[in-house]
Amino acid sequence: MLDQNKEEFLKIYKENIHRPGSDTLLEWLENSDFFTAPASTRFHGSYAGGLLEHSLNVYHCLQREVHNHAMEDEYTPETIAVSALLHDVCKVNFYKQGFRNAKDENGKWYQKPVYEIDERFPCGHGEKSVIILQSHMRLAENEIYAIRAHMGGFDTSVKGGDRFIGEIFERCPLALLLHVADMKATYLMENKGDKE
Ligand SMILES: [Fe+2]
Ligand SMILES: [Fe+2]
Repeated sequence: MLDQNKEEFLKIYKENIHRPGSDTLLEWLENSDFFTAPASTRFHGSYAGGLLEHSLNVYHCLQREVHNHAMEDEYTPETIAVSALLHDVCKVNFYKQGFRNAKDENGKWYQKPVYEIDERFPCGHGEKSVIILQSHMRLAENEIYAIRAHMGGFDTSVKGGDRFIGEIFERCPLALLLHVADMKATYLMENKGDKE
């Protein structure tokens, strides 16, 4: 499944993303844990390859959202691929394998492998993805808005009173659609993982 997903990711990437820097970005992804990382520690996609699977799910969801709102003419296939496939690159090199005590089915304690957060570049979430991507290739304004605001009201800055997410949604429908695609992929399509 992992190999199949990687193949699909590479196909979509190479067919749609052609701007200067996209090749070095892909090289960077290949040399990172992007293709094997989980999507979270305990919730959706908390297994090897979870981040890759999530990125593909969001891509397919975003394509559907754009189609359902008859917005195919507004956004290029490249913009849709960049925004969806790469929205969570902030999670690259972000998790590490750890262990915690757990009981097996016979009640015996054992060391269960789990993922832990090991943040090495603490620059937020959506904004961190934008910073990483921009260090390799130029993003268009609507791609910056979409990736920056993909957490919607769940973005931690909202708690601090920041109103920019709503302002982004008002001027960039793609940002709202990417948020919806991210939510649908997370809550409707992906395994919930181990919540014990
Ligand atoms: Fe995210
Ligand atoms: Fe996501």
